[in-house]
Amino acid sequence: MTTTTVRTLADLPIPDGMPVVGNLLPLAGPGRHHALAQWCDEHGSTFRLRVPQEILVTADPRMIDTMLRDRPGAFRRGARVSNVLDEMGAHGVFTAEGEEWRRLRRAATRSLSAAYINAYFTTLVRSTERLRRKWRTAAAAGSRVDVLDDMLRYTLDNTAGLAMGYDLNALESTGDGLHARLPEIFPEIGRRTGAPVPYWRWLPLPRHKRIAATLAELNDLVAERFAVAQQVMATGASPSNFLEALVAPLADEPALTRDELSGNVVTMLLAGEDTTAALAAWAVYYLATHPRVHRRVREEADRELGTDTIAADAGKLRRLQYAEAVVSEAVRLHPSAPTMALQAIDDVVLDGVDGPLLVPGGTTIFVLLTNGARTDADRFPDPDDFRPERWLDGGPPPPAPDAQPYLPFGGGPRFCPGRNLAQIEARLVVAMVAAEFDPVPETSAGPVTERSAFTVFPENMGLTLQARTR
Ligand code: HEM
Repeated sequence: MTTTTVRTLADLPIPDGMPVVGNLLPLAGPGRHHALAQWCDEHGSTFRLRVPQEILVTADPRMIDTMLRDRPGAFRRGARVSNVLDEMGAHGVFTAEGEEWRRLRRAATRSLSAAYINAYFTTLVRSTERLRRKWRTAAAAGSRVDVLDDMLRYTLDNTAGLAMGYDLNALESTGDGLHARLPEIFPEIGRRTGAPVPYWRWLPLPRHKRIAATLAELNDLVAERFAVAQQVMATGASPSNFLEALVAPLADEPALTRDELSGNVVTMLLAGEDTTAALAAWAVYYLATHPRVHRRVREEADRELGTDTIAADAGKLRRLQYAEAVVSEAVRLHPSAPTMALQAIDDVVLDGVDGPLLVPGGTTIFVLLTNGARTDADRFPDPDDFRPERWLDGGPPPPAPDAQPYLPFGGGPRFCPGRNLAQIEARLVVAMVAAEFDPVPETSAGPVTERSAFTVFPENMGLTLQARTR
């Protein structure tokens, strides 16, 4: 009879670190996603870090599958991230656990379902039209467009519409409104989760005061929209946005408190903005750097949409298969949430490719969700190449059982409920841009780089645009 030895955290490799702070600095810095990938290449798919407390990092497919599935029972979101978000007033479906999570998840799933998104398609089309107008003006002026900034405005408009039926019109707004300040929140979440002590509580910097003011303004807006949602629901209408769905809970569920309502709408705005903006920005940028891809998207848009250039409904959008492949390939090469922090609730033995591992309750675990995108060459041959074609005709083969996973939207019962919305938004933009413009990278300030700040987003991504003459 053979016995299998159960490893403990102490048996795992650990990268060299610095005295006292251990591996904290690379982990808290803008290159955190690169550092994690490199450590994984050097030390194998499961290792530990000292920051200075010990955390477990893994890209092991079996362990990840178990952890994603056994939620909310055996694993929860990393307490650090949850505490930071809760303190910022964003306690909602992302940070909730147990029964509360189940209740909020039902409302989130309902509000982001295909039926809701179809009902809201006119909102998405309106934002895409505004983007077209704005970029035509930039093309006529020969001015540089800041791709990420415009995509942040675009996704914020869409999420504000879907979450609370509000037309923010960030795309056409100027000045220092909510739209200009909301994007400061994600980097701050990243800074706070990486900070060894909560210094912002004792020594608030001007930046912290500004963020507190932004969150207060957002809460006021949600309160205003809450009153509108209550009026609409009192008429017996069926809910048409996330807030209305929360105000009108299912018959057998208790109503949410005002704080819960507010926290959930803020959660939706935050979850839907940066991640999707980064994806849409990369997808558009690839049109500029890959003329062959640009040509193919344009041909498809011409064939399916004629001179409209914006898919007017979900049926038309579905026909843009190549644009969809461009978006899928942009996610693969630039997943905006490559790492997710979880925590074991109690002691647990995780079965991995290299055997079982005892994980003490309370251990923070960094799950590397997307390492397979660059290490699984059977699924993704020439993994560094931008090749949308790999997603056509049924897409890549399923992963081998022991291959590192590629799960850009997570998995199990807490997988991202906004996945469809994100892909629809990016596809609308990609098709419109290819049909309307010839984009050229504008690199006078240096090359495009990437930065980890809770999510990963591009920096210094500029384009100049030439409007198409038909
Ligand atoms: C490219 C865009 C996006 C990416 C890469 C992304 C990625 C993720 C990931 C990795 C998770 C964690 C999943 C897990 O725990 O297994 C997540 C959760 C979540 N996402 Fe997204 N997301 C995107 C867009 C959106 C959008 C547009 C919305 C809504 C408007 C959204 C709402 C949420 C919510 C509410 C959760 C928490 C789900 C739960 O805990 O039950 N996301 N997302």
